[in-house]
Amino acid sequence: MFFWFICCLVDMWLISASDEICPELPPVDNSIFVAKEGEGQILGTYLCNSGYHLVGEKTLFCNASKGWNAPAPECRYLCLFSSSVGHCPDPLLVNGEFSSLEPVNVNDTITFKCNEHYVLKGSNWSRCLENHTWVPPFPVCKSRDCGPPENPTHGYFEGIDFNSGSTITYYCEARYCLVGTQHQQCIDGEWSSTLPVCELIREAPKPAELELEKALLAFQESEELCKAVENFTQRLKKSGLMMEKVKCSLEIRKADLKAKMLP
Ligand SMILES: *[C@@H]1O[C@H](CO)[C@@H](O)[C@H](O)[C@H]1NC(C)=O
Ligand SMILES: *[C@@H]1O[C@H](CO)[C@@H](O)[C@H](O)[C@H]1NC(C)=O
Ligand SMILES: *[C@@H]1O[C@H](CO)[C@@H](O)[C@H](O)[C@H]1NC(C)=O
Ligand SMILES: *[C@@H]1O[C@H](CO)[C@@H](O)[C@H](O)[C@H]1NC(C)=O
Ligand SMILES: *[C@@H]1O[C@H](CO)[C@@H](O)[C@H](O)[C@H]1NC(C)=O
Repeated sequence: MFFWFICCLVDMWLISASDEICPELPPVDNSIFVAKEGEGQILGTYLCNSGYHLVGEKTLFCNASKGWNAPAPECRYLCLFSSSVGHCPDPLLVNGEFSSLEPVNVNDTITFKCNEHYVLKGSNWSRCLENHTWVPPFPVCKSRDCGPPENPTHGYFEGIDFNSGSTITYYCEARYCLVGTQHQQCIDGEWSSTLPVCELIREAPKPAELELEKALLAFQESEELCKAVENFTQRLKKSGLMMEKVKCSLEIRKADLKAKMLP
């Protein structure tokens, strides 16, 4: 009986004490506050809404003698970029535009478009996810024009216009022959092929080139044209030569013949 009385008294004292002594905490934006009484004090817990993180003490307690142990915390937007006001970082596209100018929320999808003379590289849309990231990642707007290309070693290009649609031509120095694509076009900011190479024309033909020569001879001596073409193609494939190599090889043979004809 006495025990019950003490309990009750303490309880009543606490509740009244908390009413009187614990001041009301200020409301914290973007959070909910859960309070419970227990162990002779009031425990309060702040839970931030999704997309916000807590700065300060998460759980506060108040007792009759001391008041609240800490000031109320803050729920701050979990930002990856300081300019963000929405759920995801503000979209950014240099030399282009995107479909939304509003702060972006979870599951919103935006689309991208590049300005004239620029070409979009990447996805033309992106979605804001729960974890504050954009998936797929933002594209970039690349200029449709190509800069001047490199010169191949022992070679050079001719052409003065490097804008979209323009064409340049590669050449090699004397005694070098070009392997690769000679004429190239600028398409959406990139040259149509990789840089060609200039190969030194060697004096002695390689076995593959001898094989080619044999194939050529066979072709010339053949009477049935269809069969001969087929045979020639087969032999070319076997010798592992690509068409540009063939051209190069022919130049090598020409150079050799010229050299032999000199006294
Ligand atoms: C009141 O708070 C102090 C710490 O600030 C603590 O030591 C004390 O036990 C608390 N009183 C009760 C009744 O819980
Ligand atoms: C976003 O979409 C996912 C799956 O479609 C769904 O589970 C989730 O609840 C959505 N979130 C919001 C905030 O609408
Ligand atoms: C995005 O690209 C797809 C094809 O890759 C196309 O069908 C669609 O129209 C484009 N959307 C926009 C908004 O440009
Ligand atoms: C966000 O979520 C997506 C899909 O669930 C995942 O692919 C991506 O790696 C996550 N990003 C981060 C930074 O956690
Ligand atoms: C191709 O030509 C070579 C040389 O003349 C000959 O030996 C070979 O039988 C020919 N092959 C075919 C498939 O015609």
